[in-house]
Amino acid sequence: MDRIAIAPKDRVFVLTGAGISAESGLPTFRAEDGLWAGYRVEDVCTPDAWKRDPAGVWAFYSARRASGQKAMPNPAHIALAELERQLGDRFFLCTQNVDDLHERAGSKRLLHMHGELEKARCERECGRAPVEDHAIYQNLAEVGRCACGGRLRPHIVFFGEIPLEMDRIQDEIAKATLMVVVGTSGSVYPAANFVHWARQGGARTVYIGPEQPLNAHAFTNVVLGKAGEVMPGWFQLE
Ligand code: APR
Repeated sequence: MDRIAIAPKDRVFVLTGAGISAESGLPTFRAEDGLWAGYRVEDVCTPDAWKRDPAGVWAFYSARRASGQKAMPNPAHIALAELERQLGDRFFLCTQNVDDLHERAGSKRLLHMHGELEKARCERECGRAPVEDHAIYQNLAEVGRCACGGRLRPHIVFFGEIPLEMDRIQDEIAKATLMVVVGTSGSVYPAANFVHWARQGGARTVYIGPEQPLNAHAFTNVVLGKAGEVMPGWFQLE
């Protein structure tokens, strides 16, 4: 597919997944040598895992912080930040990623539906806002407590928990006339359903990534290629 045209009336909703950070050196989840290889999700990314073994959960997310802090935004993150500068509030970016490469590339109208690696929050859901937390913990004794006494947990949506700000996401999808989905396998819900919601609202839907996602049939166009190679210069404002 050639470059994608964006008309003055268009509103663009972008959904990104782990694939957009692959060219920054961060592994995706479901590749053969991906993040879940060597881990059982149930051991590191569920409410039960947190109850059973908070040290193990923090060890996993501390390791991810260490690699995230070394990574740099790639041309795909930068292309989206540039598009936002051109479109202003006709642009909205929802990411499943917990890394901060979108904001470090300059994105502002950005929502992290699965949480943020560089934050922590109270395990008791006491209502206090998440706090910045960049620590690489060596053991549980180093992990701080909330003012209410609860232990701080990663600000990550574990499997079995509800993604963040779903109402806002649904509003933004309802307004969109173009949905661009980048680097996600289409295997985790509700994000894998966003393309269907956009189609119901009459939007064009485009996927970018080196492989067909599981929900490929739902897209108007699938562009096979690496995000960092396809996206720079790909959006054509009319
Ligand atoms: N450019 C674009 N896409 C890429 C690239 C690249 N350079 N390299 C790989 N991909 C694609 C893969 O083809 C794959 O379809 O990125 C996708 C990554 O899929 P997953 O590993 O399943 O990651 P994602 O879809 O983001 O996972 C969703 O699952 O484990 C949970 O909460 C975690 O947010 C995550 C969610």
